[in-house]
Amino acid sequence: MSHTTPAIRAEGLRKSYGATRALDGLDLTVRAGTVFGLLGPNGAGKTTAVRVLATLLRPDSGRASVAGYDVLAQADRVRTRIGLTGQYASVDELLTGRENLLMFGRLYGLDAAGADERARSLLERFDLVGAADRRADGYSGGMRRRLDLAVSLIQEPGVLFLDEPTTGLDPRSRLQVWESVRALTASGTTVLLTTQYLEEADQLADAVAVIDHGRVIAEGTPDALKSQVGGDRLDVVVRDPADLAATARLLGDAVSAPASVHREEQRVSVPAEDRMEALTRAVRALDGSGLRVEDVGVRRPSLDEVFLGLTGSTATDHENDRERTQEVSR
Ligand SMILES: Nc1ncnc2c1ncn2[C@@H]1O[C@H](COP(=O)(O)OP(=O)(O)O)[C@@H](O)[C@H]1O
Ligand SMILES: [Mg+2]
Repeated sequence: MSHTTPAIRAEGLRKSYGATRALDGLDLTVRAGTVFGLLGPNGAGKTTAVRVLATLLRPDSGRASVAGYDVLAQADRVRTRIGLTGQYASVDELLTGRENLLMFGRLYGLDAAGADERARSLLERFDLVGAADRRADGYSGGMRRRLDLAVSLIQEPGVLFLDEPTTGLDPRSRLQVWESVRALTASGTTVLLTTQYLEEADQLADAVAVIDHGRVIAEGTPDALKSQVGGDRLDVVVRDPADLAATARLLGDAVSAPASVHREEQRVSVPAEDRMEALTRAVRALDGSGLRVEDVGVRRPSLDEVFLGLTGSTATDHENDRERTQEVSR
């Protein structure tokens, strides 16, 4: 593969399940040696895209290549160059971590000494040495995910697909998986990871595509994406819910931008393009207003806010979860 060949390219991929359009003209280009984040809510088409790219599913139309090979016409070549973890992880729960790695090593054609050596180095790399000789069914969620990652790297793939690698993990395990993914790119592997978390894409990805209803609705670096939707947010939590409307008006005027009210969190949120200036203005406006404030802070936007900025509806709307109300003050 030459330097100019992208590690992954998809053009106009379409795939329907009955009346559901899972992929609706998906285009992607992933540069070799980078981490690419495919970001979108539940049902956006992330897993379908990964399955097509990993040769597990035929698209209805469109084309894709991975490591320079066509996923349809050269599927065998693609398969020997990729690793996949996610919903299809194939770890045997009755075997220990080490036994799993040895078994897959032999399956992929390593001799006994080679498989042993590979298992040893992967156990070390994924911080599983202490658990190596325990059965995988006793592993924590984070350890299990790290074993999945280790197994997917036995063949030293040039391109690795990680489908929601940290969904369902506690924060500490999530950090450990992030560390493992960072270590991967240091070794030159191209990674395509899917995620529902803007934070995760922000932490790991060099470039991001936001997908919704099977097509890309925005792409770029995580930073560019965030500034496209207005950058950072300033949040004020009030002590008394009766103060929410007045606080929203005050803050909206202070930063000359619409405020959103998150009622059950007793929080008002406004865009903060310049963090210091927004904070100064807000504090000045609140000071002496008589409104009792619990907390003031500046933070990065959530996936919900990115979605609101890009599509006019929130990611949680997509899941018909109407619990989180969003009102815009006049
Ligand atoms: N095997 C299937 N049969 C029918 N519908 C499916 C199947 N797989 C996925 N879908 C539908 O296709 C859409 C995209 O699904 P998926 O690719 O799994 O999204 P994501 O991984 O982003 O959550 C969803 O509406 C989902 O319900
Ligand atoms: Mg999925």
